[in-house]
Amino acid sequence: MKILVVGSGGREHALAWKASLSPAVSEVFVAPGNAGTALESGVSNVPLEAGDFGGLLSFALDKSIDLVIVGPENALVGGIVDLFGENGIRCFGPTRAGAMLEGSKEFSKEFLVRHNIPTARYRSFTDLLEAREYLRHQNYPLVVKADGLAAGKGVVICENLDQAEDCVQGMLSGKLFSSAGHKVVIEEFLEGEEASFICMVDGGDFLVMASSQDHKAAYNGDTGPNTGGMGAYSPAPVVDSDMRERVIEQIMRPAVNGLRSDGIPYTGFLYAGLMISNGVPNVLEFNCRLGDPEAQVILMRMKSDLVELCLAALDGRLAGIRTEWHRESALGVVMASKGYPESSRSGDVIEGLEGPFESNVKVFHAGTGLEDGRAVTSGGRVLCVTALADGIEQAQRQAYSAVRSIRWEGGWCRDDIGHRAVSRDG
Ligand code: AMP
Ligand code: GLY
Repeated sequence: MKILVVGSGGREHALAWKASLSPAVSEVFVAPGNAGTALESGVSNVPLEAGDFGGLLSFALDKSIDLVIVGPENALVGGIVDLFGENGIRCFGPTRAGAMLEGSKEFSKEFLVRHNIPTARYRSFTDLLEAREYLRHQNYPLVVKADGLAAGKGVVICENLDQAEDCVQGMLSGKLFSSAGHKVVIEEFLEGEEASFICMVDGGDFLVMASSQDHKAAYNGDTGPNTGGMGAYSPAPVVDSDMRERVIEQIMRPAVNGLRSDGIPYTGFLYAGLMISNGVPNVLEFNCRLGDPEAQVILMRMKSDLVELCLAALDGRLAGIRTEWHRESALGVVMASKGYPESSRSGDVIEGLEGPFESNVKVFHAGTGLEDGRAVTSGGRVLCVTALADGIEQAQRQAYSAVRSIRWEGGWCRDDIGHRAVSRDG
C-alpha cells in the first residue's frame, strides 16, 4: 500500500514513521515533510504544501495512493477530506463540517451545550460595546478566545478587566489574529489539571488512544506564553481508569452520537482538551486531529498497526477492534529555535542528530529542512526528542540524555517536561 501523510510537523513525522512500520505498506510520502521525514527509511518527501489541495490530489491520483492521513487542522477545516472523497481517494480525517469543531470555537461551544457535555460557561460576541458591557460584570481571571483558527495562540487568559478589554478590542478589530478574531468567545476560567483525550472515530464507534498530557507554557514551571506544546508524555496519570470511563461516558460518547444526530458523520481523530478538577472533567476545546507533540508520545506507545486502524475507521469497523499499547511510558521534549515562541530563527545547522541514541529513543523532526544534505532549523519547534521507558521518570531521563547531545546556535528546551507525572509517581 502507498500512504500519503499531509503536513510538515513533528506529528506528521510520527505518523509517517508509524505508517512505514506497517507490513502492508510499501511506500510513505509526506507533503511537504521535513528533514526527519526525508531521512526516515521507507519515507520520502513530496514538495507540495498542505494547502495545495489541487497538487496533492493530482499526486495522489497519479501515484495511486491507497490512504491519505491528514495531520494539520487547516487542511481539514479547508475541506481536504471532502475533496479527496469526491475523487475516490481514502482520506483519514473529518470532513469540513466535522472539522468545524476546531475551526470555530463558537460552533464547538454550541455543540457542547446542545449535547450536554460539560464545559465552561461562555458567551460569544462580534460587537465590541456588547462585549465590553459583559466584561464589566464578570469574575477574573477570564478567558478570551478568537473564534477561528489561530495556530494554537488564539486563547488569552485575562487577569483583569483592563486586559480583557484590550484583548477583546484587539481581536474584534482584526489587529490580533486577523479574521479569526472577528468573533470572540468569552468563557469562565477553569482551574485543574489538563489532559489530552484522543480517540479514533469511525462515524459511530470510537477507539480510545493512550492518554497524554502536554506542556503548553513556554518556560519551566509551566510559566510564560502559550505555545503549541513544549513537550508531552503518555500515559497521563490524571486519567486513571475511573476518569477514563467518565470521559468516555460524559464526553466522547455524547460527542460522537451528537455529531451523528446533527448530521455530521465524523471520521478521524477527535481530541478533547480536558480540564480535570476534583474528579470532574470539562472540555476546554475540541481538536479535529492528533495533538502535536501528543502524537509523538502516543504513537511511540502504539503497538497496533496505525494503517489498519485508519482503514478500519474508514470502513466503520472500529467496534470490533482492540488497540494494543506498550506498557512503558513515553516522554517527548521539544527543542525550540532561538526566539520561540515570539519569533523563530531558520538556517542554523543542527549537530548531533546521528546519535548514537539508545534504541528506545526517537528524534522526531518538526521545523527542520535539509541544506546541502545537512539538517537545519526552519521553524519554532524544531525537534521532539522522545523516549519510551519503564516509568515516566526513566523516559524523562533518557529523553533529556539524548537532548544533551543535540545542539545548534540558540537551541533550547524546557528542563522539566513531565514534572507533574514524575512527582506523582514518586
Ligand atoms: P484551547 O486552545 O481552547 O485549548 O486553549 C489553550 C489553552 O488555554 C488550554 O490548553 C488551557 O491551558 C487554556 N484554557 C483554555 N480555556 C480555558 C478555560 N476556560 N479555563 C482555563 N484555562 C483555559
Ligand atoms: N499540543 C496541543 C495541540 O496540538 O493542540
